[in-house]
Amino acid sequence: SYAPVPAKEDFLGCLMKEIPARLLYAKSSPDYPTVLTQTIRNSRWSTPQNVQPLYIITPTNASHIQSAVVCGRRHSVRLRVRSGGHDYEGLSYRSEKPEKFAVVDLNKMRAVVVDGYARTAWVESGAQLGELYYAIAKNSPVLAFPAGVCPSIGVGGNFAGGGFGMLLRKYGIAAENVIDVKVVDPDGKLLDKSSMSADHFWAVRGGGGESFGIVVSWQVKLLPVPPTVTVFKIPKTVQQGAVDLVNKWQLVGPALPGDLMIRVIAAGNTATFEALYLGTCKTLLPLMSSKFPELGMNPYHCNEMPWIKSVPFIHLGKEAGLDDLLNRNNTFKPFAEYKSDYVLQPFPKPVWEQIFGWLAKPGAGIMIMDPYGATISATPEAATPFPHRQGVLFNIQYVNYWFAEAAGGPPLQWSKDMYNFMEPYVSKNPRQAYANYRDIDLGRNEVVNDISTYSSGKVWGEKYFKGNFQRLAITKGKVDPQDYFRNEQSIPPLVEKY
Ligand code: FDA
Repeated sequence: SYAPVPAKEDFLGCLMKEIPARLLYAKSSPDYPTVLTQTIRNSRWSTPQNVQPLYIITPTNASHIQSAVVCGRRHSVRLRVRSGGHDYEGLSYRSEKPEKFAVVDLNKMRAVVVDGYARTAWVESGAQLGELYYAIAKNSPVLAFPAGVCPSIGVGGNFAGGGFGMLLRKYGIAAENVIDVKVVDPDGKLLDKSSMSADHFWAVRGGGGESFGIVVSWQVKLLPVPPTVTVFKIPKTVQQGAVDLVNKWQLVGPALPGDLMIRVIAAGNTATFEALYLGTCKTLLPLMSSKFPELGMNPYHCNEMPWIKSVPFIHLGKEAGLDDLLNRNNTFKPFAEYKSDYVLQPFPKPVWEQIFGWLAKPGAGIMIMDPYGATISATPEAATPFPHRQGVLFNIQYVNYWFAEAAGGPPLQWSKDMYNFMEPYVSKNPRQAYANYRDIDLGRNEVVNDISTYSSGKVWGEKYFKGNFQRLAITKGKVDPQDYFRNEQSIPPLVEKY
């Protein structure tokens, strides 16, 4: 269905007919290294041993993206899409195997248009979450959006894989609050909700990035927050009773009202209880003394502020300000390894004791634990591809950083050992994981006859998507049967045979 290839035209020649040359970077161009590395967050994937793109395309409008897809298909060059570059395994800009590919980098497409009357906004994929939050708050101090905690995450990848933060108990995930999208499909067509199939619209909102086309922009529902919210951070060491407190928290945290989220960050011998409450200190105090008196929360722990200030406060601390939401020059680029788990049964208390033992070992990382319950657990599993709903007590993210390439041995070993240790105590069959905390150790696609196989995808795919994986694969089979948009963990096409 594609026009005949003109003699001698190559991929770059094709692009140059439609896209200004200043938006294209070949490997040989002097700016290529800067453009490639500017949004790489995990330094493991910026070394030259990684298979890097032949070209980087930085579109400024949807038609450039459409041209990139048409040229890519005509000349057999695959495209990987990058919005904020936070992918834990770097799959938005590197390939594990030799492959001819280009990156469509959306960092120049980051407009946010808020409609305060309709309580909606259109946001382009290349915006970072902080830019979305900032634009909403500028329009109204009592509207918000429930997506990730870290302000530099890209809207594109975060919404595509679910997206959750401190509002998850009140409003669920980002993807379930998306009401329309603009997507470039594998034929280069620009679709929206009214022109795409219902399954395609379902799949782009939580089924993971890359697989279902390039999402140009998202229309989201804005959600009410009170003018004043309250934040606290209470650290407790093991000597101060951290074990008993987390042991209680695992039951209390998921059962609190949706207005209160208390997550736990466990690092070394300390558990820090970090909370966002949608209300004032005055109403939070009696709630805490009735539900979780053991924590000893008192008025001195209260930090009252508008919701927008709570975002940098929670992420970076008291001194952080609104500028941090807009900062695109984050220089914190450690070497990193991440894994995740879902917990359905409370841990016996001795397991918490052992966990603090693990957190004190050489090479130890930290654990970030987000309680579920309330809205995130009330949404049916099949409503979006994100399946971690009823019955989940909390999510665990294991995060491990190091700062020199050669220092990776102990942290990588710890991550593996810790993950093995936790197996008996977390979800099973499948052992669930969060798609946005991508972990390539869960499995990689095998490609046979130029198509990723369903059987290889099922191994990692059911961990991220449970029973929704098959519907995602069938949808992929309809939207992209030739598997043009793919990476090591993209949804494989399942084409029904009649
Ligand atoms: P990136 O650009 O690397 O893309 C990720 C994936 O989506 C890739 O496969 C890419 O091809 C695809 N993709 C990107 N843009 C697309 C588009 N427009 N259309 C189609 N596919 C596209 N998560 C969370 O839910 N809550 C949190 O609080 C945090 N916190 C956090 C902190 C830090 C420091 C990091 C590094 C990461 C997180 N995350 C997170 C995880 C984060 O949500 C996840 O890495 C997202 O996929 C990142 O989206 P980016 O656009 O930045 O990544």
